[in-house]
Amino acid sequence: MTVGKVLTLALSIALLAQAALGTNIALAQPADTGDGRLGTRFILSDQRGGVVTDQDIAGSFLLIYFGYTHCPDVCPTSLLTMADVIDRLGAEADKVQALFVTVDPQRDTVEVLRDYVASFHKRLVGLTGSPEMIDRVVRGYRIKVERVEGKTKDSYTIDHTASLLFVSPTGEPIKRFAHGASAPEIAAAMHEAIASIKLPQRGVRR
Ligand code: NI
Repeated sequence: MTVGKVLTLALSIALLAQAALGTNIALAQPADTGDGRLGTRFILSDQRGGVVTDQDIAGSFLLIYFGYTHCPDVCPTSLLTMADVIDRLGAEADKVQALFVTVDPQRDTVEVLRDYVASFHKRLVGLTGSPEMIDRVVRGYRIKVERVEGKTKDSYTIDHTASLLFVSPTGEPIKRFAHGASAPEIAAAMHEAIASIKLPQRGVRR
C-alpha cells in the first residue's frame, strides 16, 4: 500500500466511524440530495495518491465522467473527447475540474489510474477509492453501473452510463453530453454556461 492509500483508508474508516456514532457526517443518509442536485460527501484518492474530498471540488464547475481503465473502447473515446474539450476551453478550464471516476475500484488502483489518466490530459484528475465509497459517488451522480461476469474471475466488464456530466459549482446538472457528442459542441455549451453563472472558484488541493 502507498502512503496515500493508507491515508485514504484511514479517513474512510474515520468517516464510517463518525457515521456510526451519529456525529456530523451522515453517511447513512441517501446519496441522492433529493432536490435534483448531483453529488455527495466523499473521500477518494487521485491518481497521485492524494486525498480528494467533496470539499475540494465544491465551488468549481465539474466535467465528470465515470468509467474504468479496462473499458475496451467507450471510455478511451470519451476521455479523448474530454481532453480535447479541456484544450478548447482555454483559460476557462481554470474554472472547471475535469474528473474521471472509476467504477472498477477493484482493478483501478492509484497506480493503474496514474498512467492511464496521464495518457489523456495533465489536467484530468482520476479518482478511485473503496468499493463502498465509489458506490456512494456513483449513486450521488446517478450513474448506472452493471458488472458483467467474464470467463475468468478477473475478466469481467462493467456496463456504465457513458454520458459526460457538466455540473454547476453548486451541484446542479447543467448538461448531460451523450457519448459521441463532439468536443467543439461540448466546449461551446460549457462556455455559454460558464459565462452565465458567476460563482467563486476553488480548485482541488495539491
Ligand atoms: Ni467505459
